[in-house]
Amino acid sequence: MNTNSQHADTFDPETYREQVEEAAAHVRSEHDHKATVGLILGTGLGQLADDMDVEQAISYHDIPHFPEATVEQHEGKLLLGRLDGVPVTAMQGRFHLYEGYSPKQVTFPVRVLATLGVETLLISNAAGGMNPHHEKGELMLITDHINLQGRNPLTGPNIDEWGPRFPDMSEPYDVELRELAEEQALEHGIKLHEGVYLAVIGPNMETKAEYRFMRRIGGDVVGMSTVPEVIVARHMDLRCMAITVITDECFPDALEPIDVEDVMAAAADAQPDLTRITRGVVREIGEPVVA
Ligand code: HPA
Repeated sequence: MNTNSQHADTFDPETYREQVEEAAAHVRSEHDHKATVGLILGTGLGQLADDMDVEQAISYHDIPHFPEATVEQHEGKLLLGRLDGVPVTAMQGRFHLYEGYSPKQVTFPVRVLATLGVETLLISNAAGGMNPHHEKGELMLITDHINLQGRNPLTGPNIDEWGPRFPDMSEPYDVELRELAEEQALEHGIKLHEGVYLAVIGPNMETKAEYRFMRRIGGDVVGMSTVPEVIVARHMDLRCMAITVITDECFPDALEPIDVEDVMAAAADAQPDLTRITRGVVREIGEPVVA
């Protein structure tokens, strides 16, 4: 054992990998499910759980090695079932760095999904809009991101079986999936912006000076999730698509104090459109299975 207290990283890759395998084995033992589509039901996609034919719901609490939920969190569940006939595995509830989880804990479920056979990951989130052309309650398809979290789920020894030491990030958000999302938006007459998601650790909202800085360096929206999951998904070569619900307007020269009820209302307003786009994409990429 290395007892040098200055050794930077105590992360044990073999243990972590075994934990992911054990979690996946538990899920498999509960329900024999073959889904290549995974969903992270963040803000704006909660309703999708009701649209699913859920065959098995497994509480995160019952999955070995899953992070324990914090008090402020609803109980998280892994939902195994179908959406419009297409087999999907959905995460109802996600983990955030601001809750105190490590990047490895935040992304543990993504490792499990990939181990279970998921190849495509569809994600939603909430974020503040910094682009003056974007309005509260509108949707933005993420085309790229900037990681300002100061953390990365891939630090420490690399697990070569999962992916490369230096993963490529030239196109983290799959071009074909983005086209499908745009087609769905067009078909349903939904306004869908495109832009760059800038990730911070939170939990506080940003100062005016920070919004000004984040806008200048190329961010269209700022939020506290998604980037760790996408980094890990790309490490394992999963295709990713992510859509943001713009829940508040972060214009530094006209900044209003955040109103949580307003944020919730904006998320609720956007939900039907985001659900429609996501269901459409699932139908396009999935192979419906007749029960
Ligand atoms: N900043 C960071 N994260 C957020 C915001 C914001 O303004 N709105 C929703 N999530």
